[in-house]
Amino acid sequence: MKTLAEMATDVLTTADGRQKTALSRQYAAEWRASRSGDAAAIEVGSATPPLHPARPESPALLNPRDVPKRKPGSPQGRIALLHAVAHIELNAVDLHWDIIARFTDVPMPLGFYDDWVKSADEESKHFNLMCDCLEALGSQYGALPAHAGMWRAAEDTVDDLMGRLAVVPMVLEARGLDVTPGMIEIFKRADNKDAVAALELIYAEEVGHVAYGSKWFNFLCGRDNLDPKAEFHRLVTHYFHGALKPPFNEEKRADAGLPPDFYWPLADGEAPAYAR
Ligand SMILES: [Fe+2]
Ligand SMILES: [Fe+2]
Repeated sequence: MKTLAEMATDVLTTADGRQKTALSRQYAAEWRASRSGDAAAIEVGSATPPLHPARPESPALLNPRDVPKRKPGSPQGRIALLHAVAHIELNAVDLHWDIIARFTDVPMPLGFYDDWVKSADEESKHFNLMCDCLEALGSQYGALPAHAGMWRAAEDTVDDLMGRLAVVPMVLEARGLDVTPGMIEIFKRADNKDAVAALELIYAEEVGHVAYGSKWFNFLCGRDNLDPKAEFHRLVTHYFHGALKPPFNEEKRADAGLPPDFYWPLADGEAPAYAR
């Protein structure tokens, strides 16, 4: 039987998006069954995940500056927006399986793996939903160019679990909480009910991913007797390129265990008095 780390590597080395997410969901179900005692236990094990996950031939990956901008109010703009979210979700599938396979030398409770398997399963669902929405509009994932830089955060933190937690769930996924309500509004105005429902589900489940990041970051700080806020500031300054962008979704960030004095001091502009 495969170990969890080998399963993660299988997902990472599958190129096609729908195949990647199908495998991801299958392995997540196998892990859940093993953890609930309905199937034989799966070991975490260890593996050698690739430095870059396999990706389909399309979309073409471009420097963010070269990705054409489209008006969000137009049908083409809405397709571009869904395409960008699909691309983010596919990256997120790989990011969650990567954190599972990459850091098996750091002893962690099994709950750490439960959380990231669940997150990877949810990202797989999110990617499929975005693909369904694109196909309903006569497009598909791969029809437009996409950002090339999304794996950068994983490469930069390839040997630093705390850096990975700080930058991926606690900065990048938290940013998703800030921008998703605006996207939902765009699809409400266009009366696209399926896209609204999909984005609302994504919005609700992403809070959990940020919360897992914050939970395990705090766990590691506690184990090593580090001050979480100071450590977060140090790691984000070291690994993340550029300032964080307000406005922040303070309510959902709080739901996810991210207090204002974690992110405001790293933002463009002056922090409000309560967050210094
Ligand atoms: Fe997602
Ligand atoms: Fe996520």
